[in-house]
Parts: sequence; structure tokens; C-alpha cells
Amino acid sequence: MLIRTFEEYQAAYQKSVDDPESFWAEIAQEFLWRKPWTKTLQWNFEEPNVKWFIGGKLNITENCLDRHLATRGDQPAIIWEPNDPSEASVTLTYRMLHDQVCRMANVLKRNGVVKGDRVCIYMPMVPELAIAVLACARIGAVHSVVFGGFSAQSIADRINDAKCRLVITADGAYRGNKEIPLKGVVDDALMGCPSVERVIVMTRTRTPVSMLKGRDVWMEQELKQVTADCPAEEMDAEDMLFILYTSGSTGKPKGVVHTCGGYMVYAAYTFQNVFQYEPDGPTGRQVHFCTADIGWITGHSYIVYGPLACGATSLIFEGVPTYPDCGRFWDITDKHKVNILYTAPTAIRSLMGFGLDEVEKHDLSSLQVLGSVGEPINEEAWHWYDDNIGKNRCPIVDTWWQTETGGILISPLAGITKTKPTYATLPLPGVQPILVDENGNEIEGNGVSGNLCMKFPWPGILRTTYGDHERCRQTYFATYPGLYFTGDGCLRDEDGYYRITGRVDDVLNVSGHRIGTAEVENAINMHTGVVESAVVGYPHDIKGQGIYAYVIADQMPADHDADLTKRDILATVSRVIGPIAKPDKIQFVTGLPKTRSGKIMRRILRKIAEGDTSNLGDTTTLLDPAVVDEIKAGAV
Ligand code: WTA
Repeated sequence: MLIRTFEEYQAAYQKSVDDPESFWAEIAQEFLWRKPWTKTLQWNFEEPNVKWFIGGKLNITENCLDRHLATRGDQPAIIWEPNDPSEASVTLTYRMLHDQVCRMANVLKRNGVVKGDRVCIYMPMVPELAIAVLACARIGAVHSVVFGGFSAQSIADRINDAKCRLVITADGAYRGNKEIPLKGVVDDALMGCPSVERVIVMTRTRTPVSMLKGRDVWMEQELKQVTADCPAEEMDAEDMLFILYTSGSTGKPKGVVHTCGGYMVYAAYTFQNVFQYEPDGPTGRQVHFCTADIGWITGHSYIVYGPLACGATSLIFEGVPTYPDCGRFWDITDKHKVNILYTAPTAIRSLMGFGLDEVEKHDLSSLQVLGSVGEPINEEAWHWYDDNIGKNRCPIVDTWWQTETGGILISPLAGITKTKPTYATLPLPGVQPILVDENGNEIEGNGVSGNLCMKFPWPGILRTTYGDHERCRQTYFATYPGLYFTGDGCLRDEDGYYRITGRVDDVLNVSGHRIGTAEVENAINMHTGVVESAVVGYPHDIKGQGIYAYVIADQMPADHDADLTKRDILATVSRVIGPIAKPDKIQFVTGLPKTRSGKIMRRILRKIAEGDTSNLGDTTTLLDPAVVDEIKAGAV
């Protein structure tokens, strides 16, 4: 499964295109299946309908846990580093993790969860989060992890969309010097969630919480009632493994669905090859530190499933990069001898801002591979990472992918693919990118750019959006018939290297978090007195993109009130979505640039937000061209 040279990469790539089925079948055979599949792939991108390893039976936790027990039982599976460095870190060996997952799975069963039920998980970054995820998978329950920064309203929307029966949460979460009352947020959410019968609450912060009789139970007490004997449920390759909600250009976030077989094979294959995980080889590469939260796809695939399926040691960090100081990542790296560091450009840019003092106090010699994910990495950040963290001896893998893709699609293989700053470089084996113009015509050759699509399925591709297959078709497969459309713009250089240039739809990427402009607008519009709003992104030094909101209020707030009103709007957005969606800038306007058919011309708003008003293009088709001058004059 491990590709070791560029020639091997080329050969694997060629084979994956010539004969995808036998290519993936060979890889899938290395896993533990209860029953082999009868047909490797069946697909069309019209409905869409994609199935991998048809008829195959497995349980992903047997692959992530049981099969390692004989060879790696006493090796660390998870190292947990708490928010506060003075609290002890925790190491769970594969044997211990197996034991705890089985116990937690029995707790779920005791509380009525059966195969196919949906379970919402809203937890801090503690080992119990990974354990809860794996416990669901063990018994065939479908997990829906909600990032701990989302609001009660967002949790309720997600719980109701999936009709979750049970919620797993904690009393609170530590994040830097903040304490977040998770259970309180869940309580607010559950006022409008009739499907939830049970809430399991872990103790973390000892924040006082209300525990509703008949509904809420303590995790610690539940765990005392069960044994560690929990045989894994036999799952079909195409049974649902999890739902993960993500933002699109319209409407509420949609539940991206991944299934057991294909997702497992893809997460593991990409983990091993991109990071060149080879514990028993000369590099001894073992300890993997992905700084994402398990609430995002990066955490699902490269903290939990990918590393554990390969037998790696996955580091889970509860806190933030700047607490107690900006040397925290480097402390952790030295303390746990991290070999692979996988983080986001936002984190790199923010740490860059603190200079090199903290970095230079650290050894960092355990590092072998650096990764970047979630947003385009700018050249300056790339070089800073390369020079100061990798000391020019660690390959950087700039990994491009999405919640919908399950795993990395375009990336260098560490130390194998020649890197080029800001380029995700080449497609992984099994991945067939294609660039198209607005009309869906293929743009061939090199030195070109266009909209990035995929023309063939890989095992980790989403299968549907939960409860609404038509939405899945519309969003990803209808723009360019016969193709999966990523929503990203892309450039292919003279060498055939890919560089992702950013979203071409109305999706923002703020600090590596995907946020739909429509979602933010809806939240702003819920604020009293707001008539209408338009949200665009603008370049932000640290976050990559900042959120700029143009707001029409029913009464223009007087100067002395404008500030308060802006803060009220921010509070509304926090309450409706969560603090990550708060606009960085708000400008009150009396009108928005609209075409005669009523469409907001975001192109103009984007230019103004970027501070580039020299060339706004043709504004004569606007309903009221004068509004543009007013907006320009009032830009913040
Ligand atoms: C963006 C995160 C440039 C892209 C794994 C994509 C990137 C969206 C990169 C998906 C990268 C992710 N370079 N852009 N290396 N990685 N993106 O679903 O716009 O949270 O469509 O998945 O992030 O975000 P998501």
C-alpha cells in the first residue's frame, strides 16, 4: 500500500486510471473484512449513485482497534495533551483504547442505541470524544459530531435534521483561558429537539449543570455498569458510518454522508501515503499530531480513522496554539516527540506574528513531515513553516480536499513529490481532476485555470446528503453533468501541478472554517431592525478571509448607536450560528447594488470590501447605480 518513490507513484497513478477497480480492490484487501465484497464499484454521477466494495461486510473499529492488538497492543494509540500544560497528559495504548471503546459502546447499548440510530456528539477535545465516535461505529450507530464552537441553534438544526436519539456531551470545555458551558448549550438546543431521549454527560470542567431526570445521565456512572466485552456489529460496506454537517452556498448546512467501507479504505490509504507513515521503516515515523478539531472532517479522517486504521499514534490536543503562550505547539512537539505535524495556514500565520523567540527555545528535531490543510497557504507562511519549523529538512504536504471527499485528493507525497510553495501539486492515485470553463467544457493542457471537478469516483466520495438526496445531486453533480463539482477554482501550471485558488461559489473560508454567505446573511437578518444584508469575504492577514457584511437597517442608526447596533448584530450571529461566523466588518448602507432582476451584484461588494474600487466594472445595468458611490464612500 505504501508508495516509496516517484516512479512508484506514477505507476500507481497509471494503474488507478487504467483499472480503478483492481487498483482499489488490491488496497482494500489489506483490511479486515468479515465477508469479501462481490463487486468493487458501481457508479454513475447522474443520480448520483456510488457504491464501493458491494456486499463486503466489516466493522471499521475492528480495523482501527482489534486487528492491532496482537502486534501493537501496548503501543500508544492516543496521546492526549490537555489545555492546561500543568495537567498530566494521557496515553492510551491500543489495548486500553479498545477496552474503553467497548465499554462506551456498551453504555450506548444500555441507553437504547441500536444499529442505524443517529447520535449527536458535542464534546471537548478529550480522548472520550474519539472514544464516543468509535463506540458509535462499534455498534453501527451513525455519529454526527458537532464542533464545540457552534451555537445551541446550530446543534438543534443538526439534531433535528438527523433525528438523533441520543446526545453525548460534557459539562464544559476548556479552550485557552475560556471555559465553555457545553451542557448548558445542549440544554438550550434540546428545548426544540423532540427526537432526543437521552443525554450522556461527561465530567470535564466541573461546571455546575442541570441534569434532567429521565433524560440526562453521567457518563462516569454509566461506565461503572458495563463490561469491556462488546463484539463489533457487522456492517455492510455501504452502511452509513457518519454524518458531518458542512456549509454550502445556499440554505442551512447539509449533512454529508460517508459510509463504512470506502471511507475507511480511503482515509487509511491517504494517511499512509501522503504522510509516508512507516513506523517500522528507517524513519520510525509514528507520532502524528493533527491540530484540527474532531468536529471537522480533518479530525475525523486524520485524528481518528486514518491514523488508527494504520496503527499510528494520534495526538489529541485540547487547547489552542497560543495558550498559555504562542510556543504551545512547539512544547507539545518536543514533549511527545511528534513526527508529523498537520495544521492549518491560519495557525501558521497567527504564530508567525509572534516572531521566532518561542520557536527558537525548542528543539523540534523529532519532526519529519509538515502538513497544511483547510485553505490556500500563502507563500510567506509556506516559507516560514519550512524554514523555522521544518528547518528546511521536512517536506511540506499542502493537502487539498473537502468534507465531501472524505480524504485528501490532491497533495504531494511527503519526500516523494517535489513540492512548490502554494501548490497542492498532483492528484493522488485514484483521483481524476478535470478543469472546466463556465459552460462545463474541459480545459485541456497545462498553464490553464478553471473550475475544479472530478470525473471518476474514489472510495471516500460522499454518498448523499442526509435526508435529501436531490440536494446532493443539485449541489455537486448538476452544475456540470457527469462531473463532481468541488466549488473551487484551480490553476494547473506548466508542469501539471495544481494550485487551488479558492471558492468560486458563495462559500467563505474563515480561518479554515467553511461558512456560507447565505447562512450569515440569514443570521444577520434575524436581528430586529435589519431589513436586508449582503455578506462577502475579503482578504484577511491571519484568517485568510474575513467576513464583511453590508446591512440595511430600517432606520439608519445614528453615529452614537451604530457601534452598539453592530455589537448587537454580532451577538445575534453568535447565537444563531456560533462565534466563528461573526462578521469582522459591518457597514450600514441604504441600499445594495442589484440588477434589474433583483440579484445582488456581489462582485461589486467584494471589490469594495477588498478596498479595490478603481475598477468596479460595468455598473450601468444596476437598478440604482448611485448606491455604489454611497457604499464606496462609507466603506469600513
Ligand atoms: C478549501 C477541509 C486550498 C477549499 C479539509 C475546499 C483548501 C474547502 C485546501 C473544504 C488547500 C481545503 N488549499 N484550499 N490545501 N484544503 N481547502 O470541507 O476551498 O472544511 O473546498 O474540508 O477548503 O473545506 P472543508
